[in-house]
Amino acid sequence: MLISTKTLLEIATAKSFAVGAFNIYNLEGVKAVVQAAEMSESPAMLQMHPASLRYGGSGLVAMCTEAAKSAQVPMSVQLDHSESESAIAFALEAGMSSIMADGSSMPFQENLEFTRKMTELAHAKGAAVEAEIGRISGSEDSLTVTEKEAKMTDPQQAVEFVAATKVDALAVTIGNVHGKYYSKPKLDFDRLAKVRKLIDIPLVLHGASGLPADMIHRSIDLGICKFNVNTEVRATYMESVKTIFTGERSVDLLETMSTAVVAMQAVICTKLRLFGSAGKA
Ligand code: 13P
Ligand code: ZN
Ligand code: NA
Repeated sequence: MLISTKTLLEIATAKSFAVGAFNIYNLEGVKAVVQAAEMSESPAMLQMHPASLRYGGSGLVAMCTEAAKSAQVPMSVQLDHSESESAIAFALEAGMSSIMADGSSMPFQENLEFTRKMTELAHAKGAAVEAEIGRISGSEDSLTVTEKEAKMTDPQQAVEFVAATKVDALAVTIGNVHGKYYSKPKLDFDRLAKVRKLIDIPLVLHGASGLPADMIHRSIDLGICKFNVNTEVRATYMESVKTIFTGERSVDLLETMSTAVVAMQAVICTKLRLFGSAGKA
């Protein structure tokens, strides 16, 4: 069933688990998330980067919302990392129940003004907003931030930011990275604990691909109630297709797509168990 992201994050907070938000690109991604969530009796989120929104348009959004509506478990649909007002307006118009207004590339004050404006826009449509302060490093679709450009979330700034913008969820930067961790991940849990103490809205951790189980569990204990996952699922998809295409047999396209869906599903099921949301639908 289609549910708003705000309600979903409230349930996760109340029941002390985290929601997995998975970036999708097409029907195979949508099927993999929905089926994995149903198999796991878990809520989940379908998430779309603005690059995918440009590619798939309102048809891709409709595919997500329709799939969420007919799913046996609670699901919501969100626009990921957007610093474009027009993309956000488009996503809201197309029926997404939440957006991420990502002004993290801007100086603090500018990010605050941008996020405040996008929050007004979204709230007027009954939608919720996630925003980020600090800046996460790594690569994701058309977004690349070097380690030098990355910045950790400042807890005091976070307080000011949340109060001024009225956002519904905050993504923290505590050493998490988009894409691969090229060395052992190091998360600043003291920083997360400080943010949690000062702020009472749901907290989000991006870059969940590559984080070990102990760090996921500690993050949930310290108040993370949404994890964003892209790279591990996307890599599984591409690897599955590549294996079939480089094999000896002649290739059947539908079979190739179904095989990729099953492969992605397995990864997503593992994440849903890890996030503690399995069995919580
Ligand atoms: P990963 O690609 O590291 O899983 O990060 C996903 C993400 O943060 C999407 O916004
Ligand atoms: Zn992200
Ligand atoms: Na990652």
